[in-house]
Amino acid sequence: ARTAVVIPAAGRGVRLGPGAPKALRTLGGTPMLVHAVRAMAASRAVSLVVVVAPPDGATEVKSLLAAHSLPERTDVTVVPGGASRQESVRLGLDALPPEYDVVLVHDAARPLVPVDTVDSVIEAVRAGAPAVVPALPLADTVKEVEPAGTPGEPEPVLGTPERARLRAVQTPQGFDRAVLVRAHATVTENVTDDASMVEQLGLTVVAVPGHEEAFKVTRPLDLVLAEAVLARRRL
Ligand code: CTP
Ligand code: MG
Repeated sequence: ARTAVVIPAAGRGVRLGPGAPKALRTLGGTPMLVHAVRAMAASRAVSLVVVVAPPDGATEVKSLLAAHSLPERTDVTVVPGGASRQESVRLGLDALPPEYDVVLVHDAARPLVPVDTVDSVIEAVRAGAPAVVPALPLADTVKEVEPAGTPGEPEPVLGTPERARLRAVQTPQGFDRAVLVRAHATVTENVTDDASMVEQLGLTVVAVPGHEEAFKVTRPLDLVLAEAVLARRRL
């Protein structure tokens, strides 16, 4: 089975605050996207990485990646993305050559995922699961609320799902390529991860252990944590 990774990196990073597009912001002096590509290329099973760049930024992203070293066994291609993460992933899937039958989808915003997590996702897909997500138990209790129309307004609590049955899911998520292509062709409503589209097809998604260092850089505090994790690795 040949394995490729699609990295959606076309988002602006609104929640991170003003600055360059999130994937191009640096961690330890290196763009987050370069960390993310290296994290995928660290797996010996991965032979192609398709980076989905901001719609008007494919040329810039290409030269950025060319300026950084990557393992020789890994091919990298760059395609322009779309208005939503979902659309960006679909555009990345469209760019996959036919010989890849396992595909991972990995957020550029998760630059520090360890290679063992990548490998365990790939292994579970190769063992026959149509869709695999890395997942962790939650620290916080989660409430369902009736969302307020205005930010800051008190919100009525509707219920509390049993925390022990909940998981926070990360990327890379792994798929049988044909299944993911069908999911993206079938599901039209907005979703926040790829696996939920496969769930909507009625297929089984399995969770394997995720990793704390696979957290998503979303808000400014996440940058502080990412820099600290990187500094600790470089000790
Ligand atoms: N993404 C994408 N195309 C989009 C929107 C998001 O490829 N139109 C990518 C982001 O670049 C990121 C991943 O999807 O790597 C996860 O999205 P998120 O963390 O929400 O990043 P942004 O959408 O950039 O951030 P924000 O929602 O704060 O604007
Ligand atoms: Mg977003």
